[in-house]
Amino acid sequence: MPLIEIKNLNKTYPVGKNKFQALKHIDLTIERGETVAIMGRSGSGKTTLLNVIGTLDTFDSGTYNYDGRSVGKMNDRAKSTLRASEIGFVQQDFLLLNRKTASENVTVPLMFGKTPYRKMPELVKKALTETGVPEQAKKRITDMSGGQKQRVAIARAIVTDPSLILADEPTGALDRATSGEIMELLLGLNRKNGITLVIVTHDSEIAAMCGRVLRISDGVLES
Ligand SMILES: Nc1ncnc2c1ncn2[C@@H]1O[C@H](COP(=O)(O)OP(=O)(O)OP(=O)(O)O)[C@@H](O)[C@H]1O
Ligand SMILES: [Mg+2]
Repeated sequence: MPLIEIKNLNKTYPVGKNKFQALKHIDLTIERGETVAIMGRSGSGKTTLLNVIGTLDTFDSGTYNYDGRSVGKMNDRAKSTLRASEIGFVQQDFLLLNRKTASENVTVPLMFGKTPYRKMPELVKKALTETGVPEQAKKRITDMSGGQKQRVAIARAIVTDPSLILADEPTGALDRATSGEIMELLLGLNRKNGITLVIVTHDSEIAAMCGRVLRISDGVLES
């Protein structure tokens, strides 16, 4: 069974009295363990598609099954539980708590799950080690480089041991060399832990590192 199976999905945003169709007849199947890049011009629907896949946003029609479970039939609570246990999110601008330490940031997703308090420090340390920044554990985010911040953000995404990472321009704020390192880190997590990766990028070199490249244009996924 595919991890993600989307059929004839449509999504509109309300704009005043009208509707703007941001996703049009999307058919998309992603198997467990795949690495997929999504490319497309600004405003083409990449973030919208990622937010729908991540169950952060709803859709108007069509079907979406995550690991065989119908997302369209889930209530908000079921979707929150799915996100907390199965999906890690990584953003271009990291979205970390800047005045908190790396460890504190990586602990946050565990607070929404069922991990006992006493087990949290060990899981946080493991995640920071996996992303190559164990020595930054007690440092505040404000005192880190962009690459270090993204490593902390990836640690936060993987601390719950998710099946899927959704990354929206994860290298968009980084220089070329650091971007390559962050991609190697994400691909390493895919190889070692089998995490499925879906990465939005404007950079064709970054996209070419993924197993499959999808292109979206005006809400239509090109095949
Ligand atoms: N909340 C919203 N309400 C109305 N329209 C929206 C909303 N969010 C996005 N849109 C529109 O939907 C389209 C797709 O937006 P989206 O953010 O998915 O694009 P994108 O491909 O991620 O672009 P970028 O590369 O600039 O991040 C755009 O035309 C945008 O204006
Ligand atoms: Mg976007």
